[in-house]
Parts: sequence; structure tokens; C-alpha cells
Amino acid sequence: MVYIIFPLIILIFFYFFSSKVSPIPYFPTNKADLDKIVKALHMKKYGVVIDLGAGDGTVIFAAAQKAYQDKLNTYFIAIDINPILIAYMWIGRLFHPNKANIRLILGDMFKVDYAPMLKKYSQRVFYIYISPWFTEATSHMIHDQKLKSRIVSYFYPVQDKKEDQKIKGVHDVYIYKS
Ligand SMILES: C[S@@+](CC[C@H](N)C(=O)[O-])C[C@H]1O[C@@H](n2cnc3c(N)ncnc32)[C@H](O)[C@@H]1O
Repeated sequence: MVYIIFPLIILIFFYFFSSKVSPIPYFPTNKADLDKIVKALHMKKYGVVIDLGAGDGTVIFAAAQKAYQDKLNTYFIAIDINPILIAYMWIGRLFHPNKANIRLILGDMFKVDYAPMLKKYSQRVFYIYISPWFTEATSHMIHDQKLKSRIVSYFYPVQDKKEDQKIKGVHDVYIYKS
């Protein structure tokens, strides 16, 4: 039995944390900062929140819970490249009170055509918690696709942009208005 479980644990660990599998490894947002992040998203009625590299859904599920309580009809899109994390979120979504407003996408965040998906929403917010060397690429992608959007970046500032607001936390939250 140990010959099966041990390699399995190594494999899962490698899959989640190796930069060979994903250049942006999986680390969940610190729960102590969740309320600040959800506030920073500035959710509006008929808006949309997109978590680029949503991981286990910590942020998207907390935000969807708050929108549900506040009766906001905000829509949520969680994108991740890791099928195990998408499967994990799929189970979490099943039991979420706001599940009708949560969409999960398995794929590479840099290869998604966002414009058709987001055009009907009056307010768009991208949440990112990704490696510092990808924040700039993400911001350029959002700009190049002409997606006038708010960007909320956790832990790392967007390299070539001056933030409009910075919220202090265990790790800081950087806000870029559209
Ligand atoms: C630091 S974690 C952040 C998780 C989550 N957003 C949170 O704040 O708790 C980064 C996530 O990005 C995902 N990821 C890495 N590269 C990606 C890509 N090209 N497209 C989509 N997701 C990606 C990883 O699988 C990982 O779950």
C-alpha cells in the first residue's frame, strides 16, 4: 500500500507546486485577507468577477457568498489550468448557494477570448494572485483585448502600473481602476 500512496503524494505535490506543470504554482489566498479582497472587488449588480488562476476557489466562492447575501446579481468566472483544482471547485460549486452565478473554465488564462464572454456585463473586475513576472502580461492582455476593467492584484503589484489604491493586509491588495 505504501508503494502506491507515497508516489501518489509525490505526484500530487509535483502537480500542484511544480513550475514545470504550471509557471504559476498553486498557493491559496491567505484567509485573513479575504474580507479585504472581497471589498476591493467592489461588486456591483450585473457586474462580473473573473479570477484568473482561481486555485481552489477561495476568493471566488467567498465573493459569490457575499454577492448572494447582498442580493447582487454579480456573475463569477473562475479559470484554472489545473484539472484537479477545477474538479475541486466543481464539487464546491455544487453546494454553493450562489452556484447559478458561478462558471468554471478549465484552460490557460492567456488563451481565452474574454470579450464575447464579458460584453454584456456593465462592470468587470479581474482578480489575480499570480507570480510577479506574470502580472504585467496579464494587465497587457486585459488592455489588448480592450476589456475596460478593474484589476485587483493580491500580494504582487502589477509591474508597469501605478495602483489607485493599496490595502494593507497580511499581504497587500493592489487596486487598479479601469
Ligand atoms: C497563486 S494560485 C492563486 C489561487 C487563487 N486565485 C487564490 O487566490 O486563492 C495561482 C493559480 O493559477 C493557476 N494557473 C497557473 N497558470 C495558469 C494559466 N496559464 N491559466 C490558468 N490558470 C493558471 C494555478 O493552477 C494556480 O491555481
